[in-house]
Amino acid sequence: EKDILKKMPLNGKKILITAGPTFEAIDPVRFIGNHSSGKMGFALAEEAAKLGAEVTLISGPVHLEIKNNAVKLIRVTSAEEMYNAAHQIFDTCDIAILSAAVADYRPAAIASEKIKKAENEFQLQLIKTKDILASLGTIKKHQFLVGFALETQNEIENAKSKLKKKNLDLIVLNSLRDKGAGFQSDTNKITLISKDNKTMPFSVKSKTEVAQDILHYIIEQTHA
Ligand code: CTP
Ligand code: CA
Repeated sequence: EKDILKKMPLNGKKILITAGPTFEAIDPVRFIGNHSSGKMGFALAEEAAKLGAEVTLISGPVHLEIKNNAVKLIRVTSAEEMYNAAHQIFDTCDIAILSAAVADYRPAAIASEKIKKAENEFQLQLIKTKDILASLGTIKKHQFLVGFALETQNEIENAKSKLKKKNLDLIVLNSLRDKGAGFQSDTNKITLISKDNKTMPFSVKSKTEVAQDILHYIIEQTHA
């Protein structure tokens, strides 16, 4: 029995994972989006399920599928839909890992008809979306809350301030500077930063291996 527990350390644990980009509609045919592939979040979901977890993966629009039955996939489009889906299940979760590249702004209004080309200049008014991770940070109880940070300057410093500001237990800093890291890539280079400000750099690895590193750290911390 102990052997089974060792191989399935997330048995009985419920994990919420967000992945992919969000698309914010401008009109019926246009949107604001980003190049997130969803690969990191999908790898986290697959690996967490292999370790025994019951996973709910909330994903924005991506060209990926999940084969594992232990992963429940909820597909959403906008930041608001992702916010609502995450809040619906957060209470019952033990661990939440928010890896989605959520749009920070959305059009203030969605035009009901396709916007016609007219003047040389066109102004689009944008308003801030709700921060899903920060909102979960304000309501969390027993949950171990993990965020991601994408930085191009003062990486460690900025990641540490996000960790604190959003009341996280762990933040995964994504390095875009390094070769073999980033949105469409199959590999990633991360630094984990814990609540007590411990920084743990990792080498460039496949997103599957990166997912394993993140989950192993979480398991270590939540069993401590
Ligand atoms: N996040 C979120 N909801 C948002 C924006 C971000 O849940 N509306 C989450 C992301 O999933 C990620 C973390 O917050 O886990 C950090 O995202 P990031 O874009 O790096 O930071 P922001 O707080 O949005 O700040 P900025 O983009 O200005 O650096
Ligand atoms: Ca952002």
